[in-house]
Amino acid sequence: MKLIHLTDTHLVVPGRALYGLDPEARLAAAVAHIRVHHADAEACVITGDLTHWGEPAAYDRLRHVLAGLPMPVLPLIGNHDDREAFCAVFPQVPRDANGFVQWVHDTSDARLLLLDTVMHGDEAGPKSGGYFSGGRLEWLQAQFDAAGAQPVLLFMHHPPFGVGVPAFDTINLQADDARAMAALLRTQRQVRHLFFGHIHRTIFGSWHGIPFSTLPATAHQSKLDFLASRDLFTHEAPGYGVVLVEPEQVTIHVADFLYQGPEFDPKQP
Ligand SMILES: [Fe+2]
Repeated sequence: MKLIHLTDTHLVVPGRALYGLDPEARLAAAVAHIRVHHADAEACVITGDLTHWGEPAAYDRLRHVLAGLPMPVLPLIGNHDDREAFCAVFPQVPRDANGFVQWVHDTSDARLLLLDTVMHGDEAGPKSGGYFSGGRLEWLQAQFDAAGAQPVLLFMHHPPFGVGVPAFDTINLQADDARAMAALLRTQRQVRHLFFGHIHRTIFGSWHGIPFSTLPATAHQSKLDFLASRDLFTHEAPGYGVVLVEPEQVTIHVADFLYQGPEFDPKQP
């Protein structure tokens, strides 16, 4: 079973640029690449920061571009998103009983649990940190109970841990919520992989024994700097993930969808 993992598309209103790039053109290029190479994927998950400022017009453009994908698209929100503006343009995306944009999506080889880690209520906005309070942890526990022994893949915007880089480690899931999530996940042996966004770089590892990964944004990237206390953005190559799920294995490839350089046949040096 194949999935596509997109993240941090950061669309803006038409005619605007973002850090010298056109996020809509970037996403359109990714969609075109997916259509050619991975039209057989069962679903495409986007782990948040769908837009940069949360304007309705940016969500309209997002909807328009994503309509080019032949598989179901599962868009999660990130800290740059506006939950209500998103839901107005994507009314078909489920919300839980507390209004969070989180739901369950079954595929042929795994159950996907799609989580909303964005601050809630009046404090919501383009702030950086993540939250999982307000009934979300209880919702996740109920989904694990319902899943039984089914393999589960988790998708969320914020990582529930630091990644060892100062500029990133102040903007992950806030500490109390991360501890509570860790305590829950430690008891759930069916979690096969945790996918997140937010960082705009490729990172992989494991957390409490759970493998995790995040990928380049389709828009701008973050500079890898272990010394700087604040983040800086770059024009390093974007990417998306091609996730292969089998009963005993999860494999993740990163597609450099803008690469147009040379290709070499090893039989013709
Ligand atoms: Fe982002």
